Amino acid sequence: MNESIQKLKDWIQESDNIVFFGGAGVSTESGIPDFRSVDGLYNQKWDYPPETILSHSFFNRYPDEYYRFHREKLVIEGVKPNRAHIRLAELEEEGKLRAVITQNIDGLHQAAGSKNVLELHGSILRAYCSRCGRKYPADMMNYGTDVPKCSCGGVIRPDIVLYEEPLNDGIMTSAIQYIRNADILIIGGTSLNVYPAAGLINYYNGNKLVLVNLSETPYDRYANLVIHEKIGEVFGQI
Ligand code: OAD
Repeated sequence: MNESIQKLKDWIQESDNIVFFGGAGVSTESGIPDFRSVDGLYNQKWDYPPETILSHSFFNRYPDEYYRFHREKLVIEGVKPNRAHIRLAELEEEGKLRAVITQNIDGLHQAAGSKNVLELHGSILRAYCSRCGRKYPADMMNYGTDVPKCSCGGVIRPDIVLYEEPLNDGIMTSAIQYIRNADILIIGGTSLNVYPAAGLINYYNGNKLVLVNLSETPYDRYANLVIHEKIGEVFGQI
C-alpha cells in the first residue's frame, strides 16, 4: 500500500464523522461510463450533445429523441456495485460514515447497502408523470420505442434533475449540513465541473479534505490529500 492510501486509512480509523461526495467515476469500475473522460458519454457521437438531450427544454420538445438516448445510454442492467460502493456501505454500518452525497443516478450506493444516500441529481430507477406527478416504475421508460404516457395523457419522465432544472432544496441543504460538520470529507470520481454540486466542497471547514480521482480536478490544490488512482482499488485497501 502506498503512503497516501495508508494515510487515508489511518484518518478513517480515527474518525466517526466521515462524509463522502462522489460522481460518475465511482461507477466506472462497475462498467458505467462517466461523462467527461475520453471514452465518456460526452465524447460519443449523437445528433445533439448529451448536455442538450439531458435538458428540460429538449425533453419537453423532443421526448422521442430523449427516450432514444435514454434507452440506449442510460438504461443500466446487470451492473453491480464495486469495491468503492461496498466499502462506503461498510463504513456507514461501522458507524464511521455519516452520509454519501452523490451526483450519480444509478442507485449503486443503495444496491451496496448504503442507507443515507443524498442523490443530488435524482435516480434513473424512479419515474413520474410530468403532468400529474403520479409515480411509475422505471421499467415504463426503459423498453419499446414509444414515449411512455401516463393515464392522464402526460409524458412519464425519469426522476432525475435535467439541465436547466434546479436541484432539490431539501437535499442540497442536508448535503451542506453534512459537509459543514464533517471531520473528513472524501471526494471521489468527479471532475468537479458541474455546479451547483461542485460548489459543495466550499462548505467544508476541516483539515482532512481528500480527493480520490483518476485525473486532476480544479480543486486538487485545496485538498489535504490527493490520490490519482482508481477509487475501487483505493477503497479495496482501506
Ligand atoms: P465526470 O465524467 O465529469 O467526471 C468523472 C471523473 O471521474 C473524471 O475526472 C475521471 O477522471 C474520474 N474517474 C473515472 N473513473 C474513475 C475511477 N475508476 N476512479 C477514480 N476516478 C475516476 O462526471 P461527474 O463529475 O460525476 O449531471 O459529472 C457531474 C455531472 O455531469 C453528472 O452528475 C451529470 C453530468 O452532466 C447531470 O446529468 C445533471
